[in-house]
Amino acid sequence: MAVVDSCVDWITFPMCRLGCLVCLELNLYVQVCGFDPDPSLWTFVTRNRQHPCRMIVRHLKHACLAWLLSTGCKVLSCHFSQEASFETPYWHRYFPDKRIRGFDEMPTVGPVTEEYKNFKIHEAYQRWVLEVGHVVKELFSDGSCCVHVYHKDDFVTIYRNDGKYPLRKSHQVIARYRRDRPHLYNSVGLGPGMGAEWHYLRRMLPSGVGGNAYLPLRQQLEEVADDFVDLVQSNLDENNEIDILPYMFRWAFESIGVITLNRRLNALAKVKNEEAENLIEAAHLTNEIIFLSNVGDFEKQYERLIPAQDYFAKVIMAYLLEANLDPEGSCLVNKLSAEGASPKDILTLILDLFQGAIGTVPLTLNWALYQVCRCPGIQERARKDLLRIMPNKDSRYYESAGRRVELLFQASNASPIVQAILRETLRLSPPAIGNGRINSKDLVLGGYLVPAGNMIVLQSQAACRLEEYFERPLEFIPDRFLDSEKYHKKGGVNRPFGFGPRACIGQPFAHGQLTLALSKILRNFEVTYNREEVGIINRLHNEPDRPVIFKMEQVPH
Ligand code: HEM
Repeated sequence: MAVVDSCVDWITFPMCRLGCLVCLELNLYVQVCGFDPDPSLWTFVTRNRQHPCRMIVRHLKHACLAWLLSTGCKVLSCHFSQEASFETPYWHRYFPDKRIRGFDEMPTVGPVTEEYKNFKIHEAYQRWVLEVGHVVKELFSDGSCCVHVYHKDDFVTIYRNDGKYPLRKSHQVIARYRRDRPHLYNSVGLGPGMGAEWHYLRRMLPSGVGGNAYLPLRQQLEEVADDFVDLVQSNLDENNEIDILPYMFRWAFESIGVITLNRRLNALAKVKNEEAENLIEAAHLTNEIIFLSNVGDFEKQYERLIPAQDYFAKVIMAYLLEANLDPEGSCLVNKLSAEGASPKDILTLILDLFQGAIGTVPLTLNWALYQVCRCPGIQERARKDLLRIMPNKDSRYYESAGRRVELLFQASNASPIVQAILRETLRLSPPAIGNGRINSKDLVLGGYLVPAGNMIVLQSQAACRLEEYFERPLEFIPDRFLDSEKYHKKGGVNRPFGFGPRACIGQPFAHGQLTLALSKILRNFEVTYNREEVGIINRLHNEPDRPVIFKMEQVPH
């Protein structure tokens, strides 16, 4: 391919230097290959680019691209940005000849089987960047492959070229289940959906889950969090110890029930609720099956999925029918119905929200507690903030924390230390290893041309553990998010919720829930962990490799 023999560069066109309110200060970045800069032409393009209006900026974009194409180069991608450019691609350091390498020349690994079987694939991902480099092609035994990227500039290139319908190949086994049941589902859902089919569903929740519209549910969510804390308290053993994670799953289940159905599902009842337990179990099994079906044995995994999803769908369908009995109701289901969404699409969406919420938030909270226990002094500092927000043990969190801005979650109202703990947890111990995309255009990543249609994994977790992005990257240091002078950090790879139009739909809700629950726990308990170090197993999500038994002692006041 001709492209491969030429060099690639980011060209910057400063669009507006006036800094006016309309078009701000925009630069147009164009990734080209085969561009041989001629200084006189360059001056021609960059001269007189000061225009105070966005329309003119757009017009100039077309003019610049037309000019570039006339130079005979190939335009790979372009975007507007106010950020500093990466004028010289980072990989020129590794390839001083600046020649773009072909896809076949990309360093390869695999096939690996052991690490998938042992649920330890995250360890291989971490090793590859250290041993092979920032761009690695993993070969699978069926002959297919996947590109793993670890460099922040490649993250930017991928996300900026996402387009209107970002493509992600995941949850294929769910897609098969739903396609096989057209009487229940119109589409495969948010996780596996692609193109216009995905967009149709996604735009039913344009602001995601947990924004302003959910404000009236804050009271109920706080009651759920209080019930969770009470349940934990009443299940501590004689040494005040507890494996808290199963209770966190019940809390997350109950909370997503409130958000979607505006009702309590009794998952936090003192006597275990069998239906809730079965649903939580079905969600865990589904995650494991999604993971295993990605790495072979698709048919066998599909067979395992059927009873779990049949049960899940049957119970959620019954909840939806009950919600629809009250057409005046105010829950998300009523709202979607009123806006004309079909019952099949509502079922698909609600199932995806339950599935998305049950594992991720509790695992993050559990990792946060584990890390907090290994970080001397942080609990006392957080509690100082929390005593201000909740002076008494029975003080309401949202009454005091939400006074200023009426949002379910408002970072500026929360304890800065609690926020820093959560951000650091999501950096070091996120629930997902990273994010996936299929590139819809040819892209140059790390100096290699990746033809459109390839599977790419943005290795956020592994990259966040590299010294080049975070100082002392393997240490849990919440202060790195409080004192940017003291700790060097570069955020481009730290994307625990993904990015762009396809980023996690539950991010605002997850933030709100994590902040609320961690604040309640640290306000009420001194938490310690005195047992052996906990490792990670990954079955779609990063789970602890053993029960994490915390000691939780009530704080006196
Ligand atoms: C700490 C908690 C969470 C983390 C770290 C997380 C992370 C992610 C990531 C990385 C993605 C892929 C984004 C992309 O492709 O750019 C995603 C997608 C998704 N998440 Fe979350 N998530 C969390 C909580 C939740 C919650 C609470 C819900 C439901 C309320 C949820 C529902 C979903 C759904 C449905 C998708 C698919 C969205 C789509 O493709 O349009 N997640 N999440």
